[in-house]
Amino acid sequence: MGATSKTIQLFAFLLISLSSVHLAHGNNFSAQFEIAWGDSEHAKVSEDGSVLSLTLDQSSGARLQSHDMYQYGRLDMLIKLVPHNSQGTVTTFYPSSDGSDQDEIDFEFLGNYADKEYVLHTNVWTRGTGHREQQFRLWFDPRTDFHNYSILWNPFNIIWYVDDTPVRVFRNYTAEGIQYPYLPMRTLVSIWNGDSWATDNGKTKIDYSQAPFTSWYANYTESACMVTNSTDNGSGSGWSPDCGTNPWFDRTLSSEEMNNLTWVHDNYMIANYCTDAYLSPNGFPPECYLS
Ligand SMILES: *[C@@H]1O[C@H](CO)[C@@H](O)[C@H](O)[C@H]1NC(C)=O
Ligand SMILES: *[C@@H]1O[C@H](CO)[C@@H](O)[C@H](O)[C@H]1NC(C)=O
Ligand SMILES: *[C@@H]1O[C@H](CO)[C@@H](O)[C@H](O)[C@H]1NC(C)=O
Ligand SMILES: *[C@@H]1O[C@H](CO)[C@@H](O)[C@H](O)[C@H]1NC(C)=O
Ligand SMILES: *[C@@H]1O[C@H](CO)[C@@H](O)[C@H](O)[C@H]1NC(C)=O
Ligand SMILES: *[C@@H]1O[C@H](CO)[C@@H](O)[C@H](O)[C@H]1NC(C)=O
Ligand SMILES: *[C@@H]1O[C@H](CO)[C@@H](O)[C@H](O)[C@H]1NC(C)=O
Repeated sequence: MGATSKTIQLFAFLLISLSSVHLAHGNNFSAQFEIAWGDSEHAKVSEDGSVLSLTLDQSSGARLQSHDMYQYGRLDMLIKLVPHNSQGTVTTFYPSSDGSDQDEIDFEFLGNYADKEYVLHTNVWTRGTGHREQQFRLWFDPRTDFHNYSILWNPFNIIWYVDDTPVRVFRNYTAEGIQYPYLPMRTLVSIWNGDSWATDNGKTKIDYSQAPFTSWYANYTESACMVTNSTDNGSGSGWSPDCGTNPWFDRTLSSEEMNNLTWVHDNYMIANYCTDAYLSPNGFPPECYLS
């Protein structure tokens, strides 16, 4: 723990080269993203660029990644999920760093039968290690309309929002020796076959007779601190002075938002790595004991 903590503190000082904050009023998936898996039959962008559909069938799913790389940011995506039976499918929206020992922040939507609820699955990865899962039901049907899913990542915390309601917070406990995401990330979106684990712990498989499975994305907005040199993994020359002037840069939950978070946790949380031993078979990690 001592060594890890020192390493992290070192990297906190050796920050990545950043340009000034970049505000992209999305609305053109073709310009901002490239296909990382699948093809243009499985990843289609509307004429005006603002709507993306990702499709899974027996031949392929699809994954797109943003050209932009950033350290810290506020990302908003409208998403509408597969309307019919989707058990075994996983639809995602997640910033992640390149490479295998990745830092990553996940929104994953676990498909289900049309008459059963979609599950919102969240996770945080640091240096390639996840196991920090929290799952939620939603207070609306995410298949009938677009809803707004947001990730705020700043030096103080990561906040997941659903239509402006915070559902999860992961705090920066670097000072306590707990790893916190710092690597430059891109935004990824995907649909894939996750039936080894996604629905009923993997017991319920995809029914490909119901394919194709399509989820919709729209109006991606990104306000982030751009990393100009994507091969620089932490030995760059420092901060853009503009990066800290964004309203989201030092944002933590207000007391009203804390109440909203408690409401979500009391009423909609299904699984929590901090309280469910089956998600943390080697014991609950230290952040679970910090407020
Ligand atoms: C979206 O971006 C693509 C690729 O850069 C470009 O060809 C297209 O004209 C853009 N569409 C709109 C509506 O701006
Ligand atoms: C986490 O917080 C520490 C202060 O406790 C700070 O030095 C560090 O830069 C933060 N980490 C990131 C990735 O922002
Ligand atoms: C999504 O939510 C964020 C706040 O959480 C808000 O700033 C943004 O305007 C919303 N976007 C849409 C399209 O509703
Ligand atoms: C937060 O909770 C208050 C009531 O405590 C409610 O009036 C408000 O609409 C909630 N806001 C969000 C964004 O969930
Ligand atoms: C995306 O934004 C445009 C412009 O504000 C709006 O007209 C459109 O309804 C939005 N798309 C969705 C799916 O909400
Ligand atoms: C990008 O970063 C790498 C690693 O720090 C460095 O070797 C390279 O010279 C940098 N490139 C530019 C253009 O600054
Ligand atoms: C950064 O890259 C260098 C050279 O490729 C490598 O030695 C180092 O371990 C990397 N650091 C991190 C934090 O990935």
